[in-house]
Amino acid sequence: MKKEISRRKFVVSTVGAGTGVLILPQLSAIQASGRANPIRPIIISSHSNETGRLAMEAGWEVLRAGGNAVDAVEKAANVIEDDPEDTSVGYGGLPNENGVVQLDASFMDGRTYSAGAVACLENFRHPSSVAKLVMQRTDHVLLVGAGALDFARAWGFPEENLLTDKARKIWLRWKEELSPDDDWGLPEHLQKIKQNESYYQDFPDIEHHYGTTNVLAIDVNGDIAGCTTTSGLSFKLNGRVGDSPIIGAGLYVDNEVGAAGATGRGEDVIKSCASYFMVLRMKEGIPPQKACEEALRMITDKYRKVNPDFYPSEKFVAINKAGEYGCATMKGERNPRMSVMSEKGFLRHEGIVAYPGK
Ligand code: GLY
Repeated sequence: MKKEISRRKFVVSTVGAGTGVLILPQLSAIQASGRANPIRPIIISSHSNETGRLAMEAGWEVLRAGGNAVDAVEKAANVIEDDPEDTSVGYGGLPNENGVVQLDASFMDGRTYSAGAVACLENFRHPSSVAKLVMQRTDHVLLVGAGALDFARAWGFPEENLLTDKARKIWLRWKEELSPDDDWGLPEHLQKIKQNESYYQDFPDIEHHYGTTNVLAIDVNGDIAGCTTTSGLSFKLNGRVGDSPIIGAGLYVDNEVGAAGATGRGEDVIKSCASYFMVLRMKEGIPPQKACEEALRMITDKYRKVNPDFYPSEKFVAINKAGEYGCATMKGERNPRMSVMSEKGFLRHEGIVAYPGK
């Protein structure tokens, strides 16, 4: 069917294209357009650093202009995926045990109850965008490995090596420290002699990490979307898939209720279906902050039966349809933080440590 393009739309987009100025209705105009209780668009992320702030600004531009939550979330997630200094997401993410960066991501669109995800995706820095297209252009939910790669290629995403120098050095150091008995690192007779380790001086502590990012948004129509994107557990086994691309684990969105996302040890999050759990709790009227804390307790209670001293280290974020939000971590010396952007501006919100002092 031929698409009708109204003359007004044509004029607007032509002028916009010619001048580089985006001419779209601004938020105040939309909100003044007769709603009794105007919906307040909002975008949040588990990323609380400067890149998180830039991401929120990028997503907010979309929401402020009347754009939808899916596009806002994608825009914001791409900013974080582009950051070469961030070793937990997208370009610059830490590789698997073989030195290969494999990315996972999921997307959900509350309007249509649609979901898409990719796992073990190599060579493409924006797995969130590929996941969005799985959601929008296929009737599948999850593509993995070579299949995800074929799909990304088919859609013309630019292919590149995602392993930065920084990530490669961290991976090499990890390999050298794995065992004194393998062939990586200094020869045995030199191991006790202090060496000039300048090659590694920027990375004194190497440990596994599983940083990830969640982006959740509500647009001016009250529609909700979310995305979770990650390079996953650093130095993971080749082919390991974490929680981020698993709908209900790393991400869940329900347009009538809200959305939730997880970061941290993916295996815990998968076993507990944590994001789905948080959305279900919000459906029962629990505020997002409490839903995050309850999800952490649910996981910890399971482990405490086996090992009373073991506290996993997940961080959860959640938002409800009314725009209330929260975040919580299992343990830590300082409260977890998240980024929030709305018509009130940018805010770094502090959540709760569920088990302080552990
Ligand atoms: N949460 C990211 C992962 O475990 O892969």
